[in-house]
Amino acid sequence: MSEKKFNVAVIGCGNIATSHLKGLAAKPECVLYAVCDNANDDRLERRKNDYGAKIAVKDYKELLGDPNIDFVIITVPDNSHMEIACAFMRDGKDVLLEKPMALTLPECEEMLRVEKETGKRLMVGQVVRYNNNFVNAKKLVDEGAIGELAFVESEYAHDYSVARGYNDWRVSPEREGMIGGGCHAVDFLRWVAGDPIEVHAFSNHKYLLDWPVNDTTIAIYKFPNGVIGKVFCGIGVKRNYTMRTCLYGTKGTIVFDSRNPDIQLFQDNGEPKSYVTPTIVPSEPVSHNMTGEISDFVDAMIEGRPNPIAAIEGARTVAVCRATVESAATGETVKIVYPEV
Ligand SMILES: NC(=O)c1ccc[n+]([C@@H]2O[C@H](COP(=O)([O-])OP(=O)(O)OC[C@H]3O[C@@H](n4cnc5c(N)ncnc54)[C@H](O)[C@@H]3O)[C@@H](O)[C@H]2O)c1
Repeated sequence: MSEKKFNVAVIGCGNIATSHLKGLAAKPECVLYAVCDNANDDRLERRKNDYGAKIAVKDYKELLGDPNIDFVIITVPDNSHMEIACAFMRDGKDVLLEKPMALTLPECEEMLRVEKETGKRLMVGQVVRYNNNFVNAKKLVDEGAIGELAFVESEYAHDYSVARGYNDWRVSPEREGMIGGGCHAVDFLRWVAGDPIEVHAFSNHKYLLDWPVNDTTIAIYKFPNGVIGKVFCGIGVKRNYTMRTCLYGTKGTIVFDSRNPDIQLFQDNGEPKSYVTPTIVPSEPVSHNMTGEISDFVDAMIEGRPNPIAAIEGARTVAVCRATVESAATGETVKIVYPEV
């Protein structure tokens, strides 16, 4: 264990902050220094008491200039990510930011600019990269267990009717489900198959009828090396939250989801395919593994290695999601334009 202690401020004390606060408590090198939330209820005091923060403030600006803070974790609604992340980087603090990096590409680009200018760390917590099922599936692909990829698909299936956010922040015309939630599936497919080149998508609106955005999207992508892919994003679906995923390769297929243990690995053994029995690859998924994410972020700082997930990754994922929304809205196939660092 390192001797170095990191004083951490958590900005936003809502639902997902719970996983971050637990992750901090599990990391011996981290001390919860400050919590911040501007809600009109007692959540700030509760978080301070439950997790033993030294200070609690309603306005994040009160923390700017505080030399005790080593890094901040930002878990506020998506439309405030840019303002708060840039303010802390300009204040000389490293930042671990919730996904999606932002709702628009100009906001992502501004954050990349500020990261470069200030030389601070900015990592977007694309937390699927810390779920063992996704990690192990990618490892199998990289080891060649299914040959060359041909078709990749993933999904984000959730019911937002019970997840509107504090003061209904998710119920907003800017907060497309594809960007806020579909980003998980897109990020995984980018991680495993590279940056898609173009997208064609369709959306409809059948579930969340009092919401100002479509709730169901299907998108198909052209990836590099002739790989093709698909993402389904449903934010009103009547089932438990999951991300079913299939990776089809020339020598095998990997099937798993985000919550059930184990991965099915089908491999070509020369027998008729209908008789192939999958190998069960043991894997214990941890959905929302902020403990792993925080630990990796902190270890990278201790060891002086780059961020485990570069900020540009968050921006590239937003670029794909935005292009998907545009395709569904226009009915056109959209070439994906990626931000430059
Ligand atoms: N990685 C994941 O799987 C995952 C899951 C859920 C949410 N998220 C992301 O985490 C973020 C928060 O989502 P949530 O579900 O916790 O929402 P939430 O509504 O439960 O919590 C958000 C909190 O931020 C506070 N807040 C808003 N503006 C603030 C400001 N300017 N200063 C201080 N506090 C402020 C609110 O009062 C609220 O307590 C969003 O970006 C969301 O997309 C990620």
